Amino acid sequence: MRNRIRELYNSIFTSTTSTSILKTNQDIDLLMRNLKKLNSDKNLQIEDLKNQENFRKEFIGNIAHELKTPLFTIQGFILTLLDGGVTDQKIIKKYLKKTLNGVDRLTYIVNDLDLITKFESGIAKLDIRQFNILSTINEVFEMLEVQTDKNNITLTLKKKFEEPIYVLADEERIQQVILNLVMNSIKYGVNRGITEIGIDFIEQNKILIRISDNGKGIDKKHLPRLFERFYRVESARNRKQGGSGLGLSIVKHIIDAHNEKIFVESEPNVGSEFSFSLTLVESPNLVEA
Ligand SMILES: Nc1ncnc2c1ncn2[C@@H]1O[C@H](COP(=O)(O)OP(=O)(O)OP(=O)(O)O)[C@@H](O)[C@H]1O
Ligand SMILES: [Mg+2]
Repeated sequence: MRNRIRELYNSIFTSTTSTSILKTNQDIDLLMRNLKKLNSDKNLQIEDLKNQENFRKEFIGNIAHELKTPLFTIQGFILTLLDGGVTDQKIIKKYLKKTLNGVDRLTYIVNDLDLITKFESGIAKLDIRQFNILSTINEVFEMLEVQTDKNNITLTLKKKFEEPIYVLADEERIQQVILNLVMNSIKYGVNRGITEIGIDFIEQNKILIRISDNGKGIDKKHLPRLFERFYRVESARNRKQGGSGLGLSIVKHIIDAHNEKIFVESEPNVGSEFSFSLTLVESPNLVEA
């Protein structure tokens, strides 16, 4: 009997416990305890795998859904043009432009997905260097000039700084973070709204970049899921602005990869503030900068 228990024990717990302790009647107790633990561990693993599987299914479903709309638009215009019925050069050009918009939208979604996948699989590498965060913010302001004019939004820096502020991070990625956050503040802002960027010195070597708007705000119940990929506050049907819900997921991935923190505070009809930390350069190498 004892030998059979020992055999059984060995076959289940190959490396965990020495069989030399299986000598007395306590053997069965030990075996039972370890089997129970094994059972609960396996159940947890199965639960985990099921969750991952559901997550994967939902993710693929979301991708298919997001790609369908621009694909159908492109297909529709191309079929109409191929039909040959449209001969007016102006209308042909208009249809081609709409086709191009659809292609741009597809490219945008695929690029975002590509970046998220790279971060999630750990392939995305950061290019950490020192740079002046004030210039990065300025570049974002310049990039968005047309959009802010079109939406009647004022984009300002809360306080002017005379000296550069050198941080240690991946400049291109941080620029994307600021761009995504400011673009959201424009998209979900009110007419004649204001988006402000503030910089707070919070610890000896940390600053907090705050992007605040007086837009339509976000209800509290959405905040815990806001950074999930494809998460949008409004359902697709009553959405005016066409986003995929990937922007904030990218922002979170970039900040996490930097080991920095991101925060959100928002109140419906008052506005939102997204803020994230960055690490200051202790003694900037001004020759390289
Ligand atoms: N500043 C903001 N004010 C109000 N709502 C916001 C703001 N920023 C984000 N949101 C809400 O959070 C949701 C998720 O934002 P996210 O940037 O991830 O996606 P998106 O803007 O819809 O699409 P994408 O950024 O991929 O084009 C948005 O759909 C919007 O409802
Ligand atoms: Mg967005």
